[in-house]
Amino acid sequence: MIAVDGPTASGKGTIAKALAAHFGLPHLDTGLLYRAVGRQCQQDGGNPDDPAQALAATRFPDSLLSDPALRSEETGGLASRVSIHPAVRQALYERQRAFALRPGGAVLDGRDIGTVIAPEALAKLFVTASVAARAERRFLEMQARGEPVTLDAIEADLAARDLRDRSRSAAPLVAAPDAVTLDTSSLSRDEAVAAAIRLVEARLNR
Ligand code: DC
Repeated sequence: MIAVDGPTASGKGTIAKALAAHFGLPHLDTGLLYRAVGRQCQQDGGNPDDPAQALAATRFPDSLLSDPALRSEETGGLASRVSIHPAVRQALYERQRAFALRPGGAVLDGRDIGTVIAPEALAKLFVTASVAARAERRFLEMQARGEPVTLDAIEADLAARDLRDRSRSAAPLVAAPDAVTLDTSSLSRDEAVAAAIRLVEARLNR
């Protein structure tokens, strides 16, 4: 079991995917589940800040998970809002836990994998990067997709999302005491992946 946590656009998704490929393990991007809840709630005309309406949206169809709209910044914001509610987190727990307990092992990435979903994980990484570095990456990604956006707007959005994810009372974004922190601010994609593989191997060989 490998747990990869960290804020949005820190590189945790890329790192988790690469670790899964390297170690031949299945990978679950848990943010996608919260994104699906946010999107479903919006489609239902619900209020993401209302616990009951957000909870109802946890019964989204599996087909929603492959909708490209889940990747948008707008959906990321909705996901952050529905993820505050303990009932929503509880409703998504079993699915994540079952994935973590797959017999051959698994890689999960999110905010609370090392603390709540898989506290017994053999290797835990907490991936971080400065707001400026994360905003620039997100800006380049969005520009490449042709989405109209400014760097300032992205920085403001990331800062707001970080604050909400870190300050919520249910499973806030925080490094597990036994997690290794990897700051990717000044690393290329390949450097970050190589560093993550080294850190996980060091844990596995202990
Ligand atoms: O990783 P991401 O940007 O796709 O996550 C979107 C939101 O979902 C994030 O702002 C907080 C929430 N989330 C969470 O609360 N717990 C997780 N394990 C994963 C995501």
